[in-house]
Amino acid sequence: MTDKLVYLDHNATTPLHPEVMQTLKEAMEIFGNPSSMHSFGRIARQQVEQARANVASLLGALPEEIVFVGSGSEGNNTVLSILSCPSKCCAYGEIHGPDIVTTAIEHPCVLDTTRCLQDRGAHVAFIGVDQYGKINFDALDKALTKKIGVVSVMTANNEIGTLQDIKRIAALCHERGALFHTDAVQAFGKIPMNVRDLDIDFLTLSGHKIYGPKGIGALYVRRKAPFLPLIHGGHQERGLRGGTESVPLIVGIGKAAEIARKYLPGYHAKVRLLRDWLERGILDSIPDTELNGHPTQRLSNTTNITFRGLESEALLLLLDQEGICASTGSACLADSDEPSHVLQAMKPDGNSLRQMIRFSLGLSNENSEVQESVALVRKCVAMLAS
Ligand SMILES: Cc1ncc(COP(=O)(O)O)c(C=O)c1O
Repeated sequence: MTDKLVYLDHNATTPLHPEVMQTLKEAMEIFGNPSSMHSFGRIARQQVEQARANVASLLGALPEEIVFVGSGSEGNNTVLSILSCPSKCCAYGEIHGPDIVTTAIEHPCVLDTTRCLQDRGAHVAFIGVDQYGKINFDALDKALTKKIGVVSVMTANNEIGTLQDIKRIAALCHERGALFHTDAVQAFGKIPMNVRDLDIDFLTLSGHKIYGPKGIGALYVRRKAPFLPLIHGGHQERGLRGGTESVPLIVGIGKAAEIARKYLPGYHAKVRLLRDWLERGILDSIPDTELNGHPTQRLSNTTNITFRGLESEALLLLLDQEGICASTGSACLADSDEPSHVLQAMKPDGNSLRQMIRFSLGLSNENSEVQESVALVRKCVAMLAS
């Protein structure tokens, strides 16, 4: 193991921004319950509302359209579960049918939730994707029948970075009377997103992908969109999510959103330059390598590369020994033997589905790290191939 580690796994999680770290330390002392009427409560409430305004501002939303939740996974579970209540026990069951339309390449927290709802009687359509991970628009068009309750399509894929045309998808959903949700956990803070311009009904985001803390996320819920809490038991978050708010984590995600607003205009240029350098360095100098994902419509920090003939795990371990921290795809499935469901959907006939590595860069990566990484990847591949 080398002393110097190069972190190329920002889609799994990002390091805390130093200013967020400082804010979190200070926020740990705000112990008041935001629901309390007294001064301690009011101080906590004021901090929570400032954080809400920061998150809303990055999305072009109103503060009252933001609901803090415990994670991106909780946000996705909430939207899918409340809008597809198969027993029609909820207030909106009569308006919107139980069906969900989603894609084959969503994050496991969407796919597993929809499968669970399927077991309880919901009808779910999984839309396929092309070889670049772009959704099949014709299939979506056909799936949008009258019965659809909610359509959920991720803005950016966590494994390959491919971006979907969210504005076009939202427009089609609305034309057919369906509500539209997007899992923007990977996109928020990496690309500019305006919920009004995109005409989104629900959006999920997460703190730890934007240099903020783990265990905190937020849902954008368009004003007047149907919504019910998944977690009952309190009037917190205007009755939309029970449980005493974690003030420090909320303050932390608010600070991270404030910082993201400042770095976002320069993010693409900075990170893409390094990503492209890494990508080209690997693809041009190592035989039997291939890019997975869309060549251009992709997050600027993500590159997913197949190393034909080399098992991902073996290469990852070797890279780790050399100080390069990357991954095979979703951190949630890191201990699974299953090939990536994303690559399976993109390449149904593919035979090298367990031979890829995802490198995801971030703001703190430097030129020298990328240069070093290309050389080390080359070295590890040569070792495994020999
Ligand atoms: C696309 C996507 N959605 C949802 C999640 C889950 O977010 P969280 O880790 O906050 O539960 C992740 C995390 O990797 C993700 O990449």
